[in-house]
Amino acid sequence: MTDIEKIEADLTAAIAAAGDDAALEDVRVQALGKKGQVNELLKGLGAMSPQERKSMGPALNGLKARLTDAIQSRRTELRGEALEARLATEKVDATLPVRPGPLQDGRIHPVSQVVDEVAAIFSDMGFSIAEGPDIENDENNFTALNIPAEHPARQMHDTFYFGEQEDGSRKLLRTHTSPVQIRTMKTQEPPIRIVVPGRTYRCDSDQTHTPMFHQIEGLVIDKESHMGHLRWILEEFCKAFFEVEEVKMRFRPSYFPFTEPSLEVDINCRRDGNEVRFGEGDDWLEILGCGMVHSNVLTNCGLDPEVYQGFAWGMGIDRIAMLKYGMPDLRAFFDADSRWINHYGFKPLDIPGLVGGLSS
Ligand code: DAH
Repeated sequence: MTDIEKIEADLTAAIAAAGDDAALEDVRVQALGKKGQVNELLKGLGAMSPQERKSMGPALNGLKARLTDAIQSRRTELRGEALEARLATEKVDATLPVRPGPLQDGRIHPVSQVVDEVAAIFSDMGFSIAEGPDIENDENNFTALNIPAEHPARQMHDTFYFGEQEDGSRKLLRTHTSPVQIRTMKTQEPPIRIVVPGRTYRCDSDQTHTPMFHQIEGLVIDKESHMGHLRWILEEFCKAFFEVEEVKMRFRPSYFPFTEPSLEVDINCRRDGNEVRFGEGDDWLEILGCGMVHSNVLTNCGLDPEVYQGFAWGMGIDRIAMLKYGMPDLRAFFDADSRWINHYGFKPLDIPGLVGGLSS
């Protein structure tokens, strides 16, 4: 084998063995680059006899042309292979089912849904939404609400207390949403019309009690609002919330330190096994506490009870959610079980509003 034949055989083998564009480029430089093997041979032509040059010239040019062609066709081949490989990995199977996104798959918790429903009803009646912190002081949660230290109502609240502060006082997790009444009356001029949804805490746990639960508070303060207004508001609320034409309500005398007189409200229903129907039957279910705001509470907030009056109510959100949507165990609300939320949860775009029905 001549030198030229050996070089051609080696380079041709190297071209065929180049596995990608970069390797092929290395071979090209080694063969045809300025300092490549073919150029080195061409440089030798000058020193040859005219006879030798006559045969070597065309032989070397032929070699250069064949190598150029071989590199070109290997390059085309490699690009074709790379494209095939990419197409194979990026293949789309158009017959696969569409994977649902958060809008189809996510669910709104019934408590959030019911808060939105209640907010929609009271906003429509001209109430605004107020909020307060979960961590409260004794003053707002008890004392200003006419529940002084040693008052028996404090024991009933099973309060979670934080450790003592430097001044000896202890913060607590609010046991009801009523402290937001105090915060509002201390900072806002009447007329006041607010509803306060929020988390509340008591050291209690069974089928109908969890240590964290939800309440919604209502407060109306002005110069003339009276019990008749309270009654109308609560009746309209119950009809809208339970989505019934008529609902019978029973106002029973009760006791809360922050209202005088105080009442508990039951609504008429019929129980069929686990199901509860409202506005029919002869059973009663307690749903809220209410009353005329106690004059001591007004005074504690800097309002003159000779001038201002009003009413308040407090309701368990989890409880009315259980009643409306037939959920038997409160503890499941907070178990984070995806089967439960898939069953009882709401679609994200089912935003409650009074137009077109609350929960439809
Ligand atoms: N705060 C009371 C509770 O948690 C509920 C309540 C009753 C709130 C009467 C009120 C009210 O505003 O007037 O048991």
